[in-house]
Order: sequence, then structure tokens, then C-alpha cells
Amino acid sequence: MKRFVRTEYNSVIQLKYRTVKKGNVEMKLQSNWHTAITQRTSRRSYQKQSIEPQKTVQIKALIDEINEKSGLHIQFIENGNRFLNGFKASYGLITGMPSLIALVGNTRDPELKRSVGYYGEFLVLECVSLGLGTCWISGTYDRKECLQSLNMKAEEDLVCVIAVGNTAQGKGIKEQLVSRLNGRKQTFDELLKEQDGNLPPWVVSGIEAARLAPSAVNGKPIGYRFKDNRLTVFITKKNHGAETIDLGISMANFQLGAMHEQKEGTWRKAADGYSFE
Ligand SMILES: Cc1cc2nc3c(=O)[nH]c(=O)nc-3n(C[C@H](O)[C@H](O)[C@H](O)COP(=O)(O)O)c2cc1C
Repeated sequence: MKRFVRTEYNSVIQLKYRTVKKGNVEMKLQSNWHTAITQRTSRRSYQKQSIEPQKTVQIKALIDEINEKSGLHIQFIENGNRFLNGFKASYGLITGMPSLIALVGNTRDPELKRSVGYYGEFLVLECVSLGLGTCWISGTYDRKECLQSLNMKAEEDLVCVIAVGNTAQGKGIKEQLVSRLNGRKQTFDELLKEQDGNLPPWVVSGIEAARLAPSAVNGKPIGYRFKDNRLTVFITKKNHGAETIDLGISMANFQLGAMHEQKEGTWRKAADGYSFE
């Protein structure tokens, strides 16, 4: 499972590559994505200056890798603001000139929404690592118009988009207000619904990372269970139809948290959710 580990102790950059399997396909996880979890917060005020070409190249390279390994058909839209800035589309929530990452995939894939959440979150964390702001968007954009600019194959659909772009360092008053309206994060105990015995460090680290995951309308429809030495994640309630996307996002964050404590594992579908093995 572990392909290789490269660590540059003398450098600011420390990259540790781990591999995980989705079906029979492997995906590299990067330790800088774990760092980005604590830095990430939804950003809604973007600057007029577009993303630097070198960063765009890196984002597109990761999109290509993910598409190849996941079977998704994620696409990068340079001038995404045209689908966000209209009154009808965003009610003025998202401003400025972000690009968009359109999360497209095959509707015959029963795991489509979870897969979009899981791989989309790695893209979000890569963008945050590059110093960019991001916001998952499933509602406040002009989906119809956006669909027309995409390259869609038969049976494919657009699940949601991610806004990405340059932002001011801190949030302005309006941005702070929207974030506050969305409410607080869950506590550790609210997220870990059931447990027996002591928690190993990788479970603690995984739950901490999952706690910081974004969630549609901040609905927080995800729960974890650690029983009989087995970690599972499951959906606890509906969340405007986005609960399965939230599930995938949470699983990505958990896995990075677990990896941070040297636990390499993969998610497997189980009768009671997904178990981390
Ligand atoms: C699947 C999904 C869809 C979302 N859709 C929207 C949206 O349409 N508009 C918006 O402003 N924020 C949207 N968000 C952002 C959430 O409101 C945000 O993640 C949540 O309030 C938690 O805040 P945080 O991301 O700053 O931690 C979405 C988030 C997720 C995960």
C-alpha cells in the first residue's frame, strides 16, 4: 500500500506521500493537506486578480490525476464568476472573480456523491495549501448556465462546484457575518456518537480533522463510531440532499487525520456505514 515516503527534514516543505485505494485504483495523500485542514474556512469574497498560472497548472494536474483514478470528470472553469455574481445565482453571497472546479461524474455510479465529496475535498485542501480561498457551492450558483459551459458525456451530471481564487488574508465584515450565520463547528463528542474503551491516537486525530470539515448549510449530518476496535462513519440525518457529499468530505478529512498519526488505511463499505481498515 505504501508506495514511497519522501521527507525533507531540512526544508520548510515536508511531503509525505501515502497511497490509498479506491476500488483497484490508488491515490496519493499529501501531509500538507492535513495542515490545510486547520487553515481552511469557506471564503466568499474573492479578489479581481485571477489565480497565478503556475497554481492553475498545479490544480489542473491534480484534477487530471483524480479523474484518472476516480472515474470522475472534474473540470476547471477559469472565469467562474459569471455563474456566481448574478442576483439569481448567489444572492450576492459570493463576490469577486473566483474560478470554479465543476464536480461532474457518471450518474450510474452509486458512489458518485460520496466520491465527489471525498476527492473534491483533496482539491480544496490542495488549493488552500497554494494560499487560495475556496468555498463548496451546491446551491448559490447558476447551475443551468454552468452546465452549458461544461463538457458532459452521456449519463454524466454536475453534482456541485467549488469556488477557488485569491482572497484578502482575513475575512471582511460581510464574510464574517455569513460565516457566523452558518453556526459553530461540532464538538469532538458530538461527532463521535459511540465509543467503547480508549481511543487510539489515530482515531482522535481523525475525528479532530473530520470536525473541521465543511458541510452544506453547516448541517453536520455525519457521525462516527469506535466500537470493538473498529472505526465506522455514517450519515445521521438528511442535509438538503448534500449529506452524501458531506460524508465523502468527512471521510477525506478523517483519513488525513489518521495518516498524521501513522495510521494508513482505506475506507470499505460496510452494513453500518463505511469502516476504516
Ligand atoms: C456540499 C456543500 C455545499 C455547500 N454549498 C454552499 C452554497 O451553495 N453556498 C454557500 O455560500 N456555501 C455553501 N457551502 C459552504 C458551507 O456553508 C460551509 O462549509 C459551512 O457553513 C461551514 O463553514 P466552513 O466551511 O467555513 O467551515 C457548502 C458546503 C458544502 C460542504
